[in-house]
Amino acid sequence: ETIEWDYTENEKSGFKHFMLKEIYEQPKTVENAIRGRLIEGEGISKLGGLEPVLDRILNLKRLTFVSCGTSFYAGLYGKYIFEMLTDLDVDVDYASEFRYRNLKLSEYDGVVAISQSGETADTLAALREAKRKGALVLGLVNVVGSTIAKETDAGVYCHAGPEIGVASTKIFVSQCVILNLIALLLGRRRGLSIFDGMNLIKEIKKLPENIKFVLDNGENIRGIAKKYLPFKNFLYIGRHLNFPIAMEGALKLKEISYVHAEGYPAGEMKHGPISLIDENFPTVAIATDGFTYEKMISNIQEIKARSGKVIAIATEGNKEIKEIVDDVIYVPKTIDILQPIINVIPLQLFAYYFADFKGRDIDKPRNLAKSVTVE
Ligand code: AGP
Repeated sequence: ETIEWDYTENEKSGFKHFMLKEIYEQPKTVENAIRGRLIEGEGISKLGGLEPVLDRILNLKRLTFVSCGTSFYAGLYGKYIFEMLTDLDVDVDYASEFRYRNLKLSEYDGVVAISQSGETADTLAALREAKRKGALVLGLVNVVGSTIAKETDAGVYCHAGPEIGVASTKIFVSQCVILNLIALLLGRRRGLSIFDGMNLIKEIKKLPENIKFVLDNGENIRGIAKKYLPFKNFLYIGRHLNFPIAMEGALKLKEISYVHAEGYPAGEMKHGPISLIDENFPTVAIATDGFTYEKMISNIQEIKARSGKVIAIATEGNKEIKEIVDDVIYVPKTIDILQPIINVIPLQLFAYYFADFKGRDIDKPRNLAKSVTVE
């Protein structure tokens, strides 16, 4: 069976759909995620939910994120940031696949179940398997008192309030922010400097205003969505920390508009996907400033050489890219590790407006449930 959220009209507070309301809630969502959890002067985070097992966490050698759908892409992002901020080995797996692996887990293994609902059957099965094998099981959950929250050894809540739209938006942002807080908690006990910790906190605190910058640009994104309505297929590409965002952006579009969208690591283009490209197969390319920018530009040029249209997510002020692509959505610049959290916002809005122009049932897309409690 599925969990049906009871919602009434007035909770949309003037927005056409809950999904749009939740997209616009995201500056507040970030504030809710970090409230009382950052000690800027020491460059550290404070997560009460993890304190009872902090000694065990500090002895871990490997961390594995297990989750589904959008929460899986949060885990994929988490893999990169934990590798950058801590000295842990980090793995990530689809919860539905994790259970088939013959993993040798021990007390030096941490398994983190990421789940908005805390009721997803595949994620619950994966955490039970991890527990059976002796791993420390942690949760990153939104619904307080949910099954996953109760069955983990410890965890962190999103405090994001109910997410009614079936397509997850504010929770993905909340999960990505809190993964930084957990990585900071560990990193600052494993070699991360107070300078790096303080810098990360300073930039995390700017996320609400940076997200608001993108939200205020919503009308431009709506116009681009309208322009691309005739297309039946989309490719989303990104590199490194933006690869999970490309995957998430593609999932948003397909699940609410029913139009095919595929996410790919941009470096994989030559290994197959480039053969898809022609004037009927546009690409959304995440090409914000950073150390993968030049490589993204060469991906974009390969696509343009095959008459493919390109919508670029680019850093505000970048004039060069405007001459190369068909459409640009500008986002404010932050540090590389947090840039993906801003980069996902235009992809949420693009998917929302695209689906709205198509007249889709955005808050309750066909065949989908807010929580998949069956395997
Ligand atoms: C994402 O927009 C979907 N709603 C779906 O992929 C969802 O993320 C997935 O089912 C996991 O749900 P959970 O976070 O509640 O475990």
